[in-house]
Amino acid sequence: MSRRAAVVLGAAVISSWSLLATQALLNAPNALELRITTSMSGVIPSTLYGYMWEDINHSGDGGLYAELLQNRAFQGVLPGTQNALTAWQPYNGARLSVTNKIEGVTSALPNSLQVTIPKTVLGPIGFENTGYWGIKVQAGWTYNGSFYAKSDTFTGPITASLKSTTGATYATATIEGISSTWKKFTFTFEPSASALDTNNVFHVEVNGPQAAGQTIYFGMFSLFPPTYLGRENGMRIDLAEALAGTNPSIWRFPGGNNLEGESWATRWKWNETIGPIENRPGRVGDWGYPNTDGLGLLEYLNWAEDLGAEPILGIWSGASAQNYSELSTWPIVPEADLQPYIDDAINEIEFITAPANSSEWGALRSKYGREEPYQLRYIEVGNEDQFQPDSYAAYRWNAFVTAIGERFPDLEFIATTYPSTALNPPYLKIDYHQYESISWFENAAFMFDNYPRNGTQYFVGEYAATSTNDSDALGTIATGRFLYPTLAGSAAEAAFMTGMERNSDVVFASAYAPSLQHIRNYQWTPDIITYDAGRLVLSTSYYVQQMFSVNRGTHLLATSPASTNDSAPLYWVASHNNETNTVFLKVANTGPDDLTAYLFFDFNVTSLFGTAVMLSSPTLSSITGVFNISNTLDEPENIIPVSSAFAIPYPDRYNYTFPATSVTVLALEANI
Ligand code: AHR
Repeated sequence: MSRRAAVVLGAAVISSWSLLATQALLNAPNALELRITTSMSGVIPSTLYGYMWEDINHSGDGGLYAELLQNRAFQGVLPGTQNALTAWQPYNGARLSVTNKIEGVTSALPNSLQVTIPKTVLGPIGFENTGYWGIKVQAGWTYNGSFYAKSDTFTGPITASLKSTTGATYATATIEGISSTWKKFTFTFEPSASALDTNNVFHVEVNGPQAAGQTIYFGMFSLFPPTYLGRENGMRIDLAEALAGTNPSIWRFPGGNNLEGESWATRWKWNETIGPIENRPGRVGDWGYPNTDGLGLLEYLNWAEDLGAEPILGIWSGASAQNYSELSTWPIVPEADLQPYIDDAINEIEFITAPANSSEWGALRSKYGREEPYQLRYIEVGNEDQFQPDSYAAYRWNAFVTAIGERFPDLEFIATTYPSTALNPPYLKIDYHQYESISWFENAAFMFDNYPRNGTQYFVGEYAATSTNDSDALGTIATGRFLYPTLAGSAAEAAFMTGMERNSDVVFASAYAPSLQHIRNYQWTPDIITYDAGRLVLSTSYYVQQMFSVNRGTHLLATSPASTNDSAPLYWVASHNNETNTVFLKVANTGPDDLTAYLFFDFNVTSLFGTAVMLSSPTLSSITGVFNISNTLDEPENIIPVSSAFAIPYPDRYNYTFPATSVTVLALEANI
């Protein structure tokens, strides 16, 4: 039915309702008038919304990377220490230690688990892995497991199982054939029942009397549940689906600080994250725990493709995390010593982009399973080099950009200093991060309105409202930093996002950060998704990202008045998608009162109904303080977006009430 016919059919009923509503509106104290016009003020870049990624808060190991066994290959630990046994525990009196005194499974993995069976033992004996603070056991899933083992005297069998900590057994496999040389054993588990909780372990045992007085060595364990899209060595399904659910279009990786290393030696090294997992040594990451690097360069690139997101590849630029401190014992790499690191970045880019048949690095990529080169457009040089700007401006930026640019002329480079720092060559794109208070984000909703239109573009490569108070924005949870995003914080981020979208001629990309947080071991709050071994919670900020990202226009529409301080605390941006003929109006109300807007269009809405998706506090909106409400693991649905359809009695106007502390996206059918 055409819009015109529908209006005529429904006119008698609708118009009387609408006149009353309009009259009521004009008398309302908080009414605003907002005009959306067909004047297209720009093309919205397809890269506007996405993610920044690094392994922090066990976001990779123990998070998105689906591996269930923590400390699976004893990487990045000191043999002989208790710490080296993180997540491992003896069962029935076995003596465990991590050793490098025997040859490891591979030269990349020198550490092995030494299991000594006492001379006198009754019953089964062995050891257990407690996973990443639990293991999810799900009936119907097939788990793929493996480990390496050897013993000079013991010949088996070995039993591996999934058990609860109270002794229930969900699945078992028997391994035969152990000998005096390393051998990989594989098995599958198909649990007959789901466990009630995640208090479960991966359990390995042998017959005690049979093994008494003997020593068995183990290395490189692995246990995978089904993964996202069935990829081998892939992603945890619920987390992957959640990230994919925001329709991200950029994926910045591998950091963040975790790119940098505490020192040159422990920086993220791309070539140690590729190939069989037995060949990846892992490293001590920047966030206080070892990284397996099972989630390596190819896994990241495949994942970005699965998301339909463009990778933004961070390359190490000669500075490490220690260089943030004046007390650093590691210098920034001097100009004369920089070339090997530039060559390393060039090799990495060649590995990603070169044809398999005409390049050594392309051939290696092909050998590791990926024939086709990946698409790569953006290279980010370093991370937060505003903290060490002098050397960046003096030679580091120049050296990397010049050499890589000559070799790969189609690449675009993103700088990481303050936007005001002059670089040679001048930067065209800059990534500058914002972890700030709620009020900062509200005020910054207009910062890009004044950004110079001089050919440079901005990437807000990390941002989040982290506190109610300016002074606590980078403080601790004790001093006011949020544990989870709050509704008020997320509404303020939405206000800021209206500014980014309205100015997307100069803001080409953005990424809330950090992405994931394991609630049992984290270093940074708040995060967009929090989880444990079995559950996850989508934060209010997640929903804001989703609402803005999924409902994308292709072109901006001019609004009048333009969103300025005059209309705060209502912030908005309008766009049109010329593929779906939809007009989107995204609105953040960061104030304590409901606000009504009288919307006028200089075009006709072509359907009788519009749709709204709204994030707000359903019942308590006028009670002071309630806006600090969060979704938490225990209360995951305090605030969730609600979708509704609404009748549009007139094709060129509508009034809508935006609740206190809310984020709303209205979608209207219109052929502009
Ligand atoms: O996102 C957490 C950290 O914040 C990043 O590693 C770093 O880039 C920033 O300081």
